[in-house]
Order: sequence, then structure tokens, then C-alpha cells
Amino acid sequence: MMEQKIRFGMSSEEKARLLQSVKRKTHDEPTRSLTRSIPKEYTCFDTLACYTQVQVEKAIAQKLGVEQPYYQCHDGISQEYATIAGKLYSNFSCYDYLGLNNDKRVHEACKDALAKYGVSASASRLTAGERPPHRMLEKALAKLHGTEDCISYVSGHATNVSTIAALFGSKDVIFYDQASHNSLVMGASLAQSARFSYPNNDTKALRSLLQTHRHNFQRALIVTEGLFGMDGSITNLPELIALKKEFSCFLMVDEAHSIGTVGASGKGVGEHFHVNPSDVDIWMGTLSKTFCGCGGYIAGSAALIEIIQYHASGFVYSVGMPPMLAASALCALNCMLAEPWRVSKLQEKSKRMLLLAKEAGLDTGVAQGYAVIPIIVGDSLTAVALSQLLKDNGILALPIIYPGVAEGRARLRFFVSASHSDEQITTAINTTAALLPKARLQAEAFAG
Ligand SMILES: Cc1ncc(COP(=O)(O)O)c(C=O)c1O
Repeated sequence: MMEQKIRFGMSSEEKARLLQSVKRKTHDEPTRSLTRSIPKEYTCFDTLACYTQVQVEKAIAQKLGVEQPYYQCHDGISQEYATIAGKLYSNFSCYDYLGLNNDKRVHEACKDALAKYGVSASASRLTAGERPPHRMLEKALAKLHGTEDCISYVSGHATNVSTIAALFGSKDVIFYDQASHNSLVMGASLAQSARFSYPNNDTKALRSLLQTHRHNFQRALIVTEGLFGMDGSITNLPELIALKKEFSCFLMVDEAHSIGTVGASGKGVGEHFHVNPSDVDIWMGTLSKTFCGCGGYIAGSAALIEIIQYHASGFVYSVGMPPMLAASALCALNCMLAEPWRVSKLQEKSKRMLLLAKEAGLDTGVAQGYAVIPIIVGDSLTAVALSQLLKDNGILALPIIYPGVAEGRARLRFFVSASHSDEQITTAINTTAALLPKARLQAEAFAG
């Protein structure tokens, strides 16, 4: 219609002006109306629901009279004791399972590699190349797990996300234990595979899911943690292996918390159950816990490792691990193997702590006495109040609340180290049992 008017009886300048104004109108109007129709919460961060949630939690903590329990700055090395703002605490909040974070040999290995290779690997190993500690560490980890090869990433979280996403796709299916770490679930989500979770360690429920869904997909993966980091219980590996064989699936076991803590020499759940290493297709571990460094790794067949080398985005497009951290992790691994007393000491202390907690009437859930001892208190307010009361009494144990664990299963997690003294453990449990009623009263008073 507009075109017709332009064609009939107008000068070329008039036509040009009109066209220009129409263009401006058609271009501007939708933009203006679109802008008007977009609610404010889609255009700024401080109205995002997750931001509001954090603010509410902070306000609750303030009203409860507790400090923010997260992001506390430790003054020095975190081991069985930690110092915060000049005050010494008995520390159950760190993963230094074998007490190697302050080991002189580990420090020396780190310093030597720093002197030889500098601070950074500078870019992806694909392009910027490797340094000897990378492959030395990976060969040692492959030997530890009894696999053909191994590959290390800069982050444990990225290891799970990128590995799963590189291997599985939209025609595949992933079955994962409900208690699996966020990084495993994120990996499954990024893979865009169909996903089914089963209740923690419930292999009967998993079997039923496999019977119903397995045949609808191409490849299938069963995912579990070896030692569950939130619960301190061990996965039922023999049954998972039987199921993976029966239903033609791959099996991935995240050993982040099991290495150094489970198995006679700390080699994890494979050693604990004496399984054939090749019955698990993907062994995953982190370097941030027992090996007191940073990064993660995958151990498995040579083909699996080569796929990751060339196709896993978190490996290919991310910097290589700093060589000094690869060297210090390797040293920590060798210390673990050369000094099996560290593993037995940790296991003995963990069992003792679990026993004491049970005797004191504390709820330790399904924990089996391997480094992670949860004290389940139920509601988040009690968990936060108890953590603060313990801190006031010189003990660090952090609360884990929803969504870290299911609603109503809030807890304090105590990480045991081979370096903890018996006295520290006894005091931690006695103090927790003594302060729990007070924490409940504080939480009730606040809620009520
Ligand atoms: C079971 C499990 N897997 C993976 C990770 C991620 O490892 P990282 O913290 O080394 O990135 C964690 C972290 O705590 C974990 O508990």
C-alpha cells in the first residue's frame, strides 16, 4: 500500500523521505514495543531468583546471629588445624585426607618443577605442548588404577563435565546415582542424553530403570561415585559391574573421595572390592583431595584417553595443568604408596570417629567410616547454627544444606585426616553432641 502511494504523484525527494521514515518506523517500532514488554527481571542480575535466594540466606544467618560460614579466609596452610583471623581451629573442613598438604617432599617437588618449567603450562597442551610432569603423573595414575592410560585436566569438575559430554549424545542414555556430584549431573545434562537417576546405592531401582529404558537408546552409561562425598558410604560396585554387563552399558566411577581413603593401600573402591580394573570403563579422580593439588583425571583404555585428548572441550580448549601441580600430585601419590600407614591410620581414625558419633546418638546416615563423616541434623537452620556454635568452640565443620543435599537432610560434614589426633576427634564429637540441642533451640526460636 505504501509502495503504491510512493509510485503515484510524488517527487523523488519526497519518496526518499517517506521511505526513510517508513524504514525508521518499521525498524524502531518493534524494538520500542519489545523493550516495553520485557520484564525488568530479565534485564538485570539483582532480580534473579538465585541472587534473591543468597540474600535471604544471608539475612537469615544475620538474624540467627551467625557469621557467613562460607568463603572464610584461612591465614595459613589448612591441615588438621587451621587459623582464621589469628584464631586456631581444630579443622574438619578440608580434604587433606593423608596429611600431605604440608609435607616437605611435596613442597620440594612443587618448587623443583616451578624452577624448571615456570608457573604455567601457558595454553592447551594440544598447542602449547606438555611438560614431563604431565605424562609422568598420568602414567603413575594409570598404574594406580590398573588401566592402559590416563589423562589429567586442570579441574576435577571440568573432568566430569567434559568427559561425559564428549562421549555421549542425544541418542544415548545416562543412569546416575541420585547422590552423584554436581559435575557428573552437569556432564550428563551437557551431553543432552536421556537421564534417569536412581535412589542412592539402590541397585534394584537401577535394574528396574535399565529394564524399562535401556533398549530405547544406543549407548548407555551408569554413573556413580566410589565413596559418596556427601554420605561417606561406598558404592555397590560388584552389583553395578554385573548390571553394566547384563545391560551392555558403560560404567563410570568417580573416585574423588575414595583415593587415599578406601582400599588397603588407598587405591579406591576397585581395590576394596578386588574387581578387575577393566570392568569399569571410566575411572575418574581428582587431584584436589588426597593429592592436595588441583585438577582431575580420567583413567581407562588407550582409545578412551585419545578421544579425550582430541575431543573433550574442557581438555582441548583449556590450559594444561601447571607442571608444578602435576609434579606435587605425583609426589603425593608416591608418598601414599610408599607409606601405607597413612591410609590405615586414616581408616582407623575414621572408623573411630563414626563409632563415637553413633555412641553419642548422632545421626551419621549411611556413613561407613571412610574419611567423610556426616552428622545429619535435618533442617538447614540447625545445621548453620551448629556449625557456628562449633566454630565458637574452636572446631571447623561446615554445613551442607539444600540444594547440596535433599531438603530435610542438612548436615555438618566432618572430613577426617590421618593427621588428626585421637583427642581432636573425641573433642569434635563430644562438643557436637553437647551443642546440638542448643542449635535446635536457636533454630526453633528463629523459625517459631
Ligand atoms: C565426587 C566429586 N567429583 C568431582 C569433584 C570436583 O573436583 P574438584 O573440586 O577437584 O574440581 C568433587 C569436588 O569436591 C567431588 O566431590
